[in-house]
Amino acid sequence: MDRIRIRGGNALNGTIPISGAKNAALPLMIASLLTDDTLTLENVPHLADVEQLIRILGNHGVDYTVSGKRLATQPSSGRTIHFTARTIVDTTAPYELVSKMRASFWVIGPLLARCHKARVSLPGGCAIGTRPVDLFIEGLQALGATIDIDAGYIVAEAKGGLVGNRYTFPKVSVGATHVLMMAASLAKGQTVIENAAREPEVADLAACLNAMGAKISGAGTATITIDGVSALSGARHRVLPDRIETGTYAMAVAMTGGDVTLEGTHSGLLQTALTALGDAGAEITDTANGMRIVRNGGGIRPVDVVTDPFPGFPTDLQAQFMALMTRSDGVSHITETIFENRFMHVQELARLGAKISLSGQMARVEGVPRLVGAPVMATDLRASVSLVIAGLVAEGETLVNRVYHLDRGFERLEEKLGACGAEVERISG
Ligand code: EPZ
Repeated sequence: MDRIRIRGGNALNGTIPISGAKNAALPLMIASLLTDDTLTLENVPHLADVEQLIRILGNHGVDYTVSGKRLATQPSSGRTIHFTARTIVDTTAPYELVSKMRASFWVIGPLLARCHKARVSLPGGCAIGTRPVDLFIEGLQALGATIDIDAGYIVAEAKGGLVGNRYTFPKVSVGATHVLMMAASLAKGQTVIENAAREPEVADLAACLNAMGAKISGAGTATITIDGVSALSGARHRVLPDRIETGTYAMAVAMTGGDVTLEGTHSGLLQTALTALGDAGAEITDTANGMRIVRNGGGIRPVDVVTDPFPGFPTDLQAQFMALMTRSDGVSHITETIFENRFMHVQELARLGAKISLSGQMARVEGVPRLVGAPVMATDLRASVSLVIAGLVAEGETLVNRVYHLDRGFERLEEKLGACGAEVERISG
């Protein structure tokens, strides 16, 4: 199994190209199930999760072709992939596939909308929490679906098709908003979703669905209105930049010091997290081709953050911010409100010398003057990258094990950091 070896101590200086967003690419790919025409997605990141979803969609009958230059000849732009679901050959998403990636559960929306039935394995728990699916069930029931649970599968049916309705989510869910929006696009009549997730990835999916002929307004706000249409067509859509990758590298620069331009992204995707970074001592400015982050001299100031749905501080940057706070000049408090078990990085950061104590959903982080490299590992993508950020300033060598977690969500991490002066290498085997 690959590992990443980091020698800490170098400032980061240079340019890092930001890839297309994993969490936009996944629902966009799933949207290809809604039409028998070809959906072309540009700027698709090269990630293990994308490859896995391609296999899962293939099981339902989605063919794909990749066009454009090879990654090596054009490192700063993602791939263009054409997805065509001419015929849905199977409306079952089996346990073996859904259990590998939670987002694949989302096929339930398009399958139900297009084929009026779906049999999708319950995703089960995962490392960051229990992650139930009650909101998906309630939302789809509101559109007229009947839902049974049979031997670990959700069996959903909408004889005669889904019918628009008004539905208010009792809790904000990104995935359930994606699914309901896709399902309602092909429902009869109007659907109004209240308390919808406002993440930029929801707005990106809506933009793509609209390009396919859907009639969606309000995506990106808490109220989304969808006027159902009888069929969707193909379209061409560019995946928006990855705000979590953007925030991760911004935090890495705040940690090491230096001056880096994050290319192809912009600060509007991340306001709250960037405000926290600014409070911590980094300077952030938008440039013509991206966003520049500088921290020269001065320490890292302690800043308290609380994770929240967008536009709040993203849970997907909580671990990275905690890594940064381990080197602050004081005490900070980090509260996780989205997932109940998203602190797996705490004990691994402690192996590097961090002083963190947990009390329920809050971590108290006491900044220390130095971290010291050690072998570490994490069981989740964002936790893993927080260890890389800590390793960038730890004295000596940090070995991050289980790199497959990083490969799920960070494209060519070692190359991108290495190009800015970090000593980071992948050790195979
Ligand atoms: C998306 O997951 C992201 N995944 C996650 O990114 C991200 O952490 C999360 O949104 C929150 O921002 C993708 O986009 C592929 P939710 P999702 O439904 O949609 C509860 C990463 O590292 N809930 O918004 O699965 C749930 O348990 C990841 O890239 C219910 O209670 O998250 C959680 O507490 C991991 N019932 C909260 O809602 C439901 O039916 C928010 O989850 C559904 C969710």
